[in-house]
Amino acid sequence: MLDYGVRDDRRGRLTDFRPSSMTKAQITELESPMLDISKSNDKSYADGKILQRVGDGVGVVTFNNPEKRNAMSLEMWEGFGQALIELRENPQVRVVILTGAGDKAFVSGADISQFEKSRHNAEASEEYSRKSAAQRALLADYPKPTIACIRGYCLGGGMQVAMLADIRIAAEDGQFGIPAAKLGIAYGYDGLRNLVSLVGPSWARLIMYTGMRIDSKEALRIGLVDRVIPTEELLGATMELATTISTNAPLAIKAAKITIAQVLEDPADRDMEAIRQIGIDCMNSEDFREGRQAFMEKRKPQFKGR
Ligand code: COA
Repeated sequence: MLDYGVRDDRRGRLTDFRPSSMTKAQITELESPMLDISKSNDKSYADGKILQRVGDGVGVVTFNNPEKRNAMSLEMWEGFGQALIELRENPQVRVVILTGAGDKAFVSGADISQFEKSRHNAEASEEYSRKSAAQRALLADYPKPTIACIRGYCLGGGMQVAMLADIRIAAEDGQFGIPAAKLGIAYGYDGLRNLVSLVGPSWARLIMYTGMRIDSKEALRIGLVDRVIPTEELLGATMELATTISTNAPLAIKAAKITIAQVLEDPADRDMEAIRQIGIDCMNSEDFREGRQAFMEKRKPQFKGR
C-alpha cells in the first residue's frame, strides 16, 4: 500500500524508519504509521519484531514479523509488554496505536511453530500462557487510550490484542477470526469475556464453534470493530483519530476510560470510589479551567493533563 518512506498526509512529508535490527525483507514490507519525527525516538524489541515510535503525543507499537503475518512468538509478547510499559511511563505519550507491519496482517495469532516446544500439553503451556497473559494484562489495565489499527488478518491472539484496545479501526481488507477449534485449544476467559462483551454470546458461539473468518463489513455490523476505512486511508484516519484524542483533556479521557471499565465490571466488583475520585480530579484540574477559558476566549485549549 505505501512505500517504505511513509507519507504524512497532514504535512505532505516523507518519513524514513529503519531500525538497524530489521532484515531487508522486513524493511521492504514495513508500513509504519506516519509520524514525522526523529529516528532517535524509535526503539525496537524482540530482535526488531516489535517496533516502538513516539511523536506528536502519539505512541505507536508495530508488530513486525510480516513473513509470518505478524504471528506472535513469546519473545514478541515480551517485547510488546516492554514497549507498552515504556509508552505508559512516557509523559509525552497521550494515546497509543497498535498496528501490524506489512500489508497482510495485524497479527495472525500466536506463532504456531513454537507450540510443539512450548505449548504441546497443559503443563508446558502453563508457562507460555502465564508469560503472554502478563503482557496482555498490561494492555487490559492501560491507563492511556489505545487504538488497534487493523488491516488484513486479525486472528487468535491478534483478536485478543485488538479486543483489549479501547477502539478498533479496520481497513476494508480486514479478516477476523479465532481458529481455536481448528487447532484444538481453549481460548481462555479474558479473550472470550471481551468477545462476548463486544459481539454478544450468540455471535461469540458462532465464531468459536466454526473457527470462521469474517470480513471488516461483518465485523463492523456485529460491533467487533468501530469503524471501517478504505484500506489506503487506514493509517491516516487512525492518526487523525489519535491526534484528536491526544489534544483533548487527558484527565477527562481517563475519567471516561475508568468509568466505562467499571460499567463493564460485575456490579459487586465495581470501584465506585475510583469513579468519584477521577471526577473530583477533573473538576479541580487546571485543564478544566483552561477548557472553560479557551471556550470563552474562542481559542483552542492547551491541555496539560493536570
Ligand atoms: N504461526 C506461525 N506461522 C504463521 C502463522 C502463525 N500463526 N500465521 C502465518 N504463518 C506463516 C505461515 O506458516 C507461512 O510460513 P512459510 O512462508 O514458512 O510457509 C507464512 O506465515 C505465510 O503464511 P501463509 O499461510 O502462506 O499466508 P496466507 O496469506 O495464505 O494465509 C493466514 C495467512 C494467516 C490465513 C494463514 O497463515 C493462517 O491460517 N495462519 C494461522 C492462523 C491461526 O491459526 N492463528 C491462531 C493461532 S493460535
